[in-house]
Amino acid sequence: MPIPLDTLRSELDLPLAHPDAAELQRMGQESLQWLIQHFATLPEQSIGQTGSRHELEAMLREPLPELGRAFIEVIREFSEKVAPYSFRVNHPRFFAFIPSAPNYVSVLAELLCAGTNFFAGVWLEAAGPTQVELVVLDWFKELLGYPPEAGGILTGGGSEANLTALVVAREPLALEQRARSVIYLTEQRHWSIDRAARIMGLRAAGCNRRPCMRLYRGIARTVSIPGRWWPMRARPTPAPLIRWTRSPTSAAQSDSGCMWTPLMVGPLC
Ligand SMILES: Cc1ncc(COP(=O)(O)O)c(C=O)c1O
Repeated sequence: MPIPLDTLRSELDLPLAHPDAAELQRMGQESLQWLIQHFATLPEQSIGQTGSRHELEAMLREPLPELGRAFIEVIREFSEKVAPYSFRVNHPRFFAFIPSAPNYVSVLAELLCAGTNFFAGVWLEAAGPTQVELVVLDWFKELLGYPPEAGGILTGGGSEANLTALVVAREPLALEQRARSVIYLTEQRHWSIDRAARIMGLRAAGCNRRPCMRLYRGIARTVSIPGRWWPMRARPTPAPLIRWTRSPTSAAQSDSGCMWTPLMVGPLC
């Protein structure tokens, strides 16, 4: 039954009390307790389960709440109705897909990041976190054997990395050249590349699917320029874009061709 507006208004006359330090501690403990138990029992848990839309609607649909609830109740609902209907991607026997499998230390790091929400858009406001990013990028460059002038950014995930890499690869093209851009994809690419191409306004007709060779690495050799086949090293134009695509995050995804893809956007247009 909806609460009358006047009642709500009078209740909101005074600002809600902020939880004090003891309350914050208790809420933190309630969340951590669930998480630690989850991590500790992962090997014994099932991989997870799915549910039909109908079942989940019945369990989770509710009107927009007008009042808050005890934190522990929310954790309980999460534990009983939300978490069970998902796969444990960090389960030791889960090999079905490859989304990231969080480890406990990274979870705590995320907690610090979420709790501070550093604004790293400008050096002024987050010099410390930005320096950490630069150092980590240098570690990636070292690991991957990239030259010191290579650059990159850390992104929130593979899709974002792919989109960023493609945009950077297209950047050297003049605006009038962009409309003629062609993107060559392997048939094994991740679908985030198709999505990135769509976001960038690359023509659908420009998305060609090249067959993969053994080990899914053949795209570079199967690129054709009207009727001809160019081995990667014998392309007619030097590939200055290599310089632009060395984002460690996107390079890390090279198994599906997304590292190669940006290499080819420019020279083939
Ligand atoms: C090769 C590849 N590229 C991109 C992605 C998309 O990554 P994200 O889900 O982090 O956006 C994935 C995700 O599994 C992937 O395997």
